[in-house]
Amino acid sequence: MVQDTMISISPKKGGVNALLSNISLEGDNLGIVRLKEGREKTLKLGHPWIFSKAIESFSGQNGHLARVYSHKGEFLGLGYVNTHSEIRLRMLGFMEIEPKGLLFRLLSKSLEKRKNLIIESNAYRLVNGENDGLSGLIVDVYQDIIVLQIGTYGIDLLKNEIVDALNVLLKPKAIYEKSTSLSRRQEKLLPQSGWLSSNPFDQPVEIFEKDVRFLVDIVQGQKTGFFLDQRDMRFWIRQRVQNKNVLNLCSYSGGFSLHALKGGAARVVSVDSSNEACRQMHVNTELNGLQGHEIIESDVFDYLEKSTELFDIVILDPPAFVKSKKDLPKGTKAYRELNRLALRRVAESGLFMTSSCSYHLDASLFDTILLEASLQENKETYLIQRHLLASDHMKNIAYREGEYLKTMVLICSNRP
Ligand SMILES: C[S@@+](CC[C@H](N)C(=O)[O-])C[C@H]1O[C@@H](n2cnc3c(N)ncnc32)[C@H](O)[C@@H]1O
Repeated sequence: MVQDTMISISPKKGGVNALLSNISLEGDNLGIVRLKEGREKTLKLGHPWIFSKAIESFSGQNGHLARVYSHKGEFLGLGYVNTHSEIRLRMLGFMEIEPKGLLFRLLSKSLEKRKNLIIESNAYRLVNGENDGLSGLIVDVYQDIIVLQIGTYGIDLLKNEIVDALNVLLKPKAIYEKSTSLSRRQEKLLPQSGWLSSNPFDQPVEIFEKDVRFLVDIVQGQKTGFFLDQRDMRFWIRQRVQNKNVLNLCSYSGGFSLHALKGGAARVVSVDSSNEACRQMHVNTELNGLQGHEIIESDVFDYLEKSTELFDIVILDPPAFVKSKKDLPKGTKAYRELNRLALRRVAESGLFMTSSCSYHLDASLFDTILLEASLQENKETYLIQRHLLASDHMKNIAYREGEYLKTMVLICSNRP
């Protein structure tokens, strides 16, 4: 039976000593990075990146661990250098720590930070890159399966040690690598996917969020298999759907839709262009024994151009239209157009939840896009909620970058 309670996120017992004796992070052959005068300031504030101009000298092997010192010789922590990357040095935590235990300490800390969260799910993000002091690494946990995403050369070199540490800490059934992000190109890394453990796991894996069950296909699915970052908003929307008609645009495997139906929505229409996402939606709807779910496989622009129905709640969570800075003008236009079309489908005084997961599109530009789209549709829109990421994606406030997901919920009414 699915539990609607806090799940325990904590290390599994035993095996730590074995791990520490197995880990071999180059022992005393660490490189040395010395920063230019005054350039340690951002590191001391907890920001993990150093650009090439701030580095006075580097000796050691590209990508491998190095000790980092200020100009005056103060030890700042451990990091790794990539001489091909614009971000020349990435810190791995800021502790004065013996390198053998570094990854174990960082991963344990990530677990520890999450242990008091009430996430009401057995799927969560354990490591959120820079936000957990592990620049270049994402770790998502789906029940007892772990999915890794590696984005940098330095982390790629530490892959075996990361797998060892995760095996000791969580004792998963299997670990899968899904390192397919575009940023790997800048690190001169090819995409890499596959099982890292000797025991491949039967797909898909079943997870729950509150009392809703989902089958997650880690291998074929998008991202690491599920959009964990929107979990809190799925719960937020669920509380407001009683007897409402809901339109879920770009619905993936039905996260928002199934929570809406469980929350008492009268009817939910889900639209996604991916055949596989629609198939998963059908499977997940059936798995939960839910009725009243209309699933439409369509391009969202095509659907909205033709649709005439009004909905009490419209959810719009499209893919990233701005993948790099040069996409910004075109992407901005696409967001404006899509939001304009979606706003048309919101009933008088209805709710509109809109998200952008484009890293390069900041919150103030997103506000402007919504204002322009509202004006074009002759709508007044009132902001009632802003949201970034689900709590397990916790943001290190010393690291300002990386706020890719922005969500607004607006009350919409027609201009008099
Ligand atoms: C960010 S995900 C949505 C995640 C979802 N809200 C959830 O909670 O699981 C974006 C979705 O948009 C879909 N998509 C991408 N381009 C689309 C298009 N042109 N029309 C409709 N859906 C599209 C993708 O297949 C994907 O499922």
